[in-house]
Amino acid sequence: MAIFDEVKNQLVKDVITEDFMKMVQQNIMSFNRLMAYYRCAMMEVETKFKVLNEQFSIQYDRNPIETIKTRLKSMDSIAGKLRRKNLPVNIESIEKNLNDVAGIRIICSFPEDIYMLSDCLLQQDDVTLIEKRDYIKNPKPSGYRSLHLIVEIPIFLENEKRFMRTEVQLRTIAMDFWASLEHKLRYKKNISDEESEYLSRELIECAEISAQLDQRMENIRNRMTKADTNGEAKD
Ligand code: GTP
Ligand code: MG
Repeated sequence: MAIFDEVKNQLVKDVITEDFMKMVQQNIMSFNRLMAYYRCAMMEVETKFKVLNEQFSIQYDRNPIETIKTRLKSMDSIAGKLRRKNLPVNIESIEKNLNDVAGIRIICSFPEDIYMLSDCLLQQDDVTLIEKRDYIKNPKPSGYRSLHLIVEIPIFLENEKRFMRTEVQLRTIAMDFWASLEHKLRYKKNISDEESEYLSRELIECAEISAQLDQRMENIRNRMTKADTNGEAKD
């Protein structure tokens, strides 16, 4: 049965991809243009975070951001998502309905920095918040933690200004480490139900331990900063 389902899923996937690829071929110029606009939007948002990081390093002598990763959704994933959500397969539908074609991931050392950076971004007058999902305060049942924002920002072209949406995921190094391991489990085939259940339970527990560690490290950092400022006051 499992093998039958797998073959069926693969066939469905092939058909979706084929329909999608036909649509893209017929509208190749518009598709390429739209993907270029998404790349521009990612550059804009990435620059905004780099500027904030730079400013913090000058003002407070520390870098809140460890790493920035950007990614453009693959054709396969775009096709799959349109299909899953029963959405029309055309260029306008991609731009209108998908919020995560452009994705940017901001990795911080400490949870507080996530909220600080998110506030700084959302205060900017060319950034519009479309949606916020706080999976740090409300983790997913899997144990997943991150702060997700969908923002709309303008990109400036030769003769026009276009508003593009980007998904911003902010997380700590520990949350990122957890998410990449959990992601691997999601795509693991040939794993018994029993083993998969065991690994899921382990991952939930690891997510909790990891969140506690984030909290304790942050407390240490804050006490050290306090000790520094007290010391300066005495000098
Ligand atoms: P998608 O259809 O997956 O985009 O879901 P959504 O639009 O409802 O958004 P959601 O906030 O659930 O998740 C968006 C993205 O967050 C995913 O594409 C993943 O990158 C990440 N994510 C969400 N949940 C999990 C999870 O349980 N585990 C891992 N590893 N990543 C997750
Ligand atoms: Mg999404």
